Parts: sequence; structure tokens; C-alpha cells
Amino acid sequence: MSHAYRAVQWNKHKKVYDLLLAGGVGLYLVVFVVVSSLALSGDNGITPMTLLIRAFGTAAIILLHLILCIGPLARLWPGVFAPLLYNRRHMGVTMFILAFLHAALATLWYHGFGVVNPIVSIFTSNGNYDQIAAFPFQPLGFIALLILFLMAATSHDFWLANLGPRTWKTLHTLVYVAYALLVMHVVLGALQSNPSVLYIGLLVLGFVMIAGLHLITGWREWRKDAAAPNTDDQEWIDVADVNDIEDGYGKVVTLAGSERIAVLKYDGKVSAVSNVCAHQHGPLGEGKVVDGCLTCPWHGYQYLPHNGQSPPPFTEKIPTYRVSVQGSRILVNPEPLPPGTAVEPATIEASPPPESNHEA
Ligand code: HEM
Ligand code: FES
Repeated sequence: MSHAYRAVQWNKHKKVYDLLLAGGVGLYLVVFVVVSSLALSGDNGITPMTLLIRAFGTAAIILLHLILCIGPLARLWPGVFAPLLYNRRHMGVTMFILAFLHAALATLWYHGFGVVNPIVSIFTSNGNYDQIAAFPFQPLGFIALLILFLMAATSHDFWLANLGPRTWKTLHTLVYVAYALLVMHVVLGALQSNPSVLYIGLLVLGFVMIAGLHLITGWREWRKDAAAPNTDDQEWIDVADVNDIEDGYGKVVTLAGSERIAVLKYDGKVSAVSNVCAHQHGPLGEGKVVDGCLTCPWHGYQYLPHNGQSPPPFTEKIPTYRVSVQGSRILVNPEPLPPGTAVEPATIEASPPPESNHEA
């Protein structure tokens, strides 16, 4: 598999999502500042700086919740949520910028006027590391910010190509560590000084949403794997009816002991390729055929269905599978062929029968 660097293409929808993202964040900040200034006036009044620190901090953590929900939502309801995956990277970078603004203002405001270096002060100004109630919550935010920085800085495909998908993915799963640190940052910080029912309720709701969605998707994948037909000694596996797949779309097939396969129906033909995108392992069978190419639902990498190769000048290749159509049934040979191997697509009307076949 090649990891050649290439920029993910812009498209009209990406720009629309970016505009919605920028507009949504701007609107949130304005509404937060206006509503908080009205609600916290008089004796409860807070400085404009504290208001900004809170506005940026809450905007960042809300965005982090949305980002963590998009992955499982896109697996559960690809038709509705998969398009958002195109924009998740921009959401991540926006979230980092908001978190950075919050952290920079908080560091200047709470640590910038003393003689100690502000960053050192974050760790030393409160030494109650052995107490829960007065625990120094700011270092937790600092460590989370470092993780978010690493992720934002390596979010470009240049880094994916250079680090390799495995290291890159491992690095990016640190987002869950950052999330845990930030929950503690808020619980041990803001909630100690202002134990508002609304804040606690939102935090619990956020956690239940993220954990619940991940558990449901994990359980669904596990069930699919457990129900996968056994492919031992079977040369051809009956995987689907041609009429069950819409033209231009695919079906994800799980065979025991092998990778998932994307079976595609397009222009009166059927092809089968690996379901795993060479970019970030997106589910290709949940994508669609655009301009004759299977297009990954996550970030739009494309592959020719008959040979699993990205159209020139790109160099990605994925494994292909031999496929046949008998009557209305689609049969796949479960043995993956080397990435980029050309396979004659099966014609839906008149496909030669395979030598042997087994109903799965
Ligand atoms: C150097 C790193 C950080 C420092 C020094 C810091 C400092 C603070 C301080 C002093 C507060 C209490 C503000 C107040 O209400 O008066 C706070 C609250 C908060 N922080 Fe951070 N923070 C850091 C990193 C982060 C990061 C990376 C996030 C990411 C989302 C974050 C999210 C929040 C949130 C959501 C709150 C609650 C806002 C509220 O008080 O209403 N913080 N932080
Ligand atoms: S394009 Fe990114 S995972 Fe497929």
C-alpha cells in the first residue's frame, strides 16, 4: 500500500460545512457573551476577560463532544452523518484554536502578572495535589492542550504519509485521553467554584452520549463479525442479491477470518474490493461510485472498482476480490488478491458461473 502524500480535494460541500462551522462558532461565542453578561450582572458580575475565557473554553469542549460523536454516528447512520466526516479535521483544528485562545487568556490573566514564569506557575501556584476539592485543575488543561496541539499539528495528510497510518492513528486516539483530562479540568475547576446543575447535567449528558455511541457501534461490529459466514474450504461465497444493492453503491460483507469486503454495483456490473480505505481505514463499502470511482465516505479518496487503484496521479492501492453473478446472486471468492490487481467485473445479466459455489 502506498502512503504517497496528497492533498484531500476541496469540494462544494466542504466549503458549506466550513461556513456552517465558522458561523456556528461565531454565533455561540456572541450568544454566550451576551447571555452571560445579562445573567451575571450586579453583584455576580464578572470581568470581560473571564467572560471570554469561559466562552472560548466552553465552545472548545462542546466542539470536542461533537467531534467524538461523529465517528460512531457515521457508522450507525452513514446516510445522514458520513458527510460530516469530510469536515471533522477542520472541526478538530477549530477546536484546538478555541482551546488555545481559552488557555492563553487564562494563563495571561491568572499567571501573567507575577514573577514566576506563567507556564511554571500553572503547575506550582496551587500545590494541593493531595486534595480533591482544591486539586490544581489547570495543569490537566495544559496537558490536554499539548495533546490537542499534537493532533492539530499532525492533522494534515503530509503527516499521515510520513508517520504511517498505524502511528498516526495511535497518536490520534490520544484524543480520548485529552477528553478525560478536560472532564477532570472542568469537574475539579469550574464545578468546584460554580456547581451549577446545568453544567453538571451537560457534562454527564455528554459523557453518556460519547460512551453510549461508542459502545453501541462496538457491539454492532462485534455482532456482525460473530455472524460472519465461515469461509474455510469455500471457493465462492454467496454474499448478496444484486437487487438489494442500489446502482452506484456498495454493500459491506464480513467473512469470518478475513477483512471486510466492499461489493459494488455500478453500470450493470459488480466488483469487489477491500472495505478498508488506504487513507485512514474508512469503510469503502459505505461510499458511492462517483465519476466511475469508488469514493470513500470519510475524506473522498477514490479507487477504480475493477483494480482497487486510485486514478492517476495518485498511487494508493487496495486488495481486490474475484466476483461472479449467478442469476441474481453475487458470489465472491474470499481470497484477497494483491493490492491493485485487476479483476474482470461480473456482468449482471450474463455472468459465467463459478466452478463451485456454496450458499453462505
Ligand atoms: C494552559 C491550559 C489551561 C488553563 C491555564 C486553563 C485555565 C482555566 C481556568 C482558570 C478556568 C476557570 C475560568 C473561570 O471560570 O473563571 C478554566 C475553565 C475551563 N476550561 Fe480551561 N484551561 C486550560 C486548558 C483548557 C483546555 C485545553 C480546554 C479545552 C476545551 C479547557 C476548557 C475549559 C472549560 C470548558 C472550562 C469551564 C468554563 C467555565 O468556567 O465556565 N481548558 N480553565
Ligand atoms: S478517504 Fe480518508 S479514510 Fe478514506
